Amino acid sequence: MQGKRGFLICIEGIDGCGKTTHAHLLVENLRKNGYEAFYTTEPTLGKIGNFIRRYLLERQKRSPSIIEALLFAADRVEHAEKIIKPALKQGKIVVSDRYVYSSLAYQGAAGLDLNWIWTLNKWIVQPDLALLIDIPPEEALQRIKRKKSVMETLENQKKVREIYLKFVEDGKLVKVDGDRSINKVATEILNVVLSRLKKD
Ligand SMILES: Nc1ncnc2c1ncn2[C@@H]1O[C@H](COP(=O)(O)OP(=O)(O)OP(=O)(O)O)[C@@H](O)[C@H]1O
Ligand SMILES: [Mg+2]
Repeated sequence: MQGKRGFLICIEGIDGCGKTTHAHLLVENLRKNGYEAFYTTEPTLGKIGNFIRRYLLERQKRSPSIIEALLFAADRVEHAEKIIKPALKQGKIVVSDRYVYSSLAYQGAAGLDLNWIWTLNKWIVQPDLALLIDIPPEEALQRIKRKKSVMETLENQKKVREIYLKFVEDGKLVKVDGDRSINKVATEILNVVLSRLKKD
């Protein structure tokens, strides 16, 4: 059963793998199962998140990765303090569309030291369950061919995926095969989450 402390789930993966689709479906399915769940996203919809979209993502050229890491970490601290912690205190399930593993994977792929990125993010609340929706980068880019950000080159997505997969090997991320129908992926995600909620 859902404890008083709440439960933080993050949904991770390369661009176009289905995070937003499945984060929303998970919230819907958890509610159907009687849990109080809500959706949140990174970059956030707050001032720092909007700045990140304008200043880092919706541009032709990639910014220095140190600036990316610092801004994403700042946005995450605000996210954790203003949105995630209050909801967890009320015992809610928070489903975050991207979280700390995005910083590790994207800025790690850009060459930054993973330990430094962890250190930058040490003030945030740790996820109780981190899921990776894994699909081949070629397939992901097909899905999002309409809207592109500065991160979305095939070469970059391949590097990002490699780092995500290392975290799966280390047992930090739980991998879900995202290269199936939306229904199948959503069912597996719900089953993984429900079994963890029942255990905790
Ligand atoms: N299992 C699936 N099979 C086919 N298409 C899918 C699947 N999951 C999601 N899609 C479609 O792929 C597109 C990208 O999905 P979505 O926006 O959820 O990805 P995302 O990981 O949130 O992308 P971004 O990183 O750009 O925010 C959407 O059009 C969505 O409907
Ligand atoms: Mg999305």
